[in-house]
Amino acid sequence: MRPKISVIGAGHVGAEVALHTAMRDVGDVVLVDIVEGLPQGKALDMFEAAPLLGYSVRVTGTNSYDDIRDSDVVVITAGVARKPGMSREDLLLTNFRIIRSISEQVKEKAPNAIVILVTNPLDAMVYTAYRVLGFPRERVMGMAGALDSTRFRAFIAMELDVSPRDVTAMVLGTHGDLMVPLPRFASVGGIPITELIPEKRIEEIVERTRKGGGEIVALLKTGSAYYAPGTAAADMVEAVVRDLHRVMPASVWLQGEYGIQDVFVGVPVVLGSEGIHKILDLPLQDHELADLQRSAEHVRELQREVDELFEREG
Ligand code: APR
Repeated sequence: MRPKISVIGAGHVGAEVALHTAMRDVGDVVLVDIVEGLPQGKALDMFEAAPLLGYSVRVTGTNSYDDIRDSDVVVITAGVARKPGMSREDLLLTNFRIIRSISEQVKEKAPNAIVILVTNPLDAMVYTAYRVLGFPRERVMGMAGALDSTRFRAFIAMELDVSPRDVTAMVLGTHGDLMVPLPRFASVGGIPITELIPEKRIEEIVERTRKGGGEIVALLKTGSAYYAPGTAAADMVEAVVRDLHRVMPASVWLQGEYGIQDVFVGVPVVLGSEGIHKILDLPLQDHELADLQRSAEHVRELQREVDELFEREG
């Protein structure tokens, strides 16, 4: 039996996650959405490309949560994007309801799954899912750092005109303006970028990384990014299913690491078959740690809002 990966939400991001997961041949992919025909149509289209792309796993689409039964991994991308005129609170409430109801289905039908959240506002949505699922912290995480890091890497590659493959970099913290790109840990073919790029320019690249999501929204006008987010989530799925012990940031429930307690925030982890195999608790410099803790306090505030929603919505 092949591993089973369910992707909830067959929109822009969900479809990319599904396709990239299938292309890595890690397991059968089930694409779920509430819109009739949408996941079926996209899944069929993707499988019709299998002979050309050369993958062997199956991709199917469904409107029924029964089909996620016994999934090994569940990726949640369902939700609405913020539309003009929609407040941050409205977005939080709408996506809270969606993530809560999906998490109830996952808890019942895929109780052993490793769950990766992609829906924004990311850290608040992982917290929502974590509360409903009641799974151990190793099995519930958010995809944000993997995306922010690939953006940071891409900008460094552009700056130096080198292959993006040779650039490694890490972005911690919450997904948003308070994210924490760490130039000290960025390198090109093993050479620290601090040796290659002037400080002032690094600061500009860091700023562009922080605003990376907004830059895409401003260009697209009708939606948000999906190629990089979808690929980043597929990277996490592959690391889990193949037990690769890949090192990347993920939003995890911290229990004292980095001096932070009971908050979902992005830190470097080792990803494997049990989900979070290990959290890497690095000795950060004072200013880096202060930025990470500021990020965590921001999420704590959001978690409080989520707690209120749980109480209010019953
Ligand atoms: N169950 C399944 N699917 C749902 C549900 C639900 N309860 N509610 C909404 N959806 C589906 C919608 O029908 C839609 O097809 O979620 C999909 C969302 O797709 P898009 O609107 O294309 O949004 P997308 O660009 O994929 O972004 C999804 O990921 O990166 C984040 O900020 C982004 O929160 C957003 C999410």
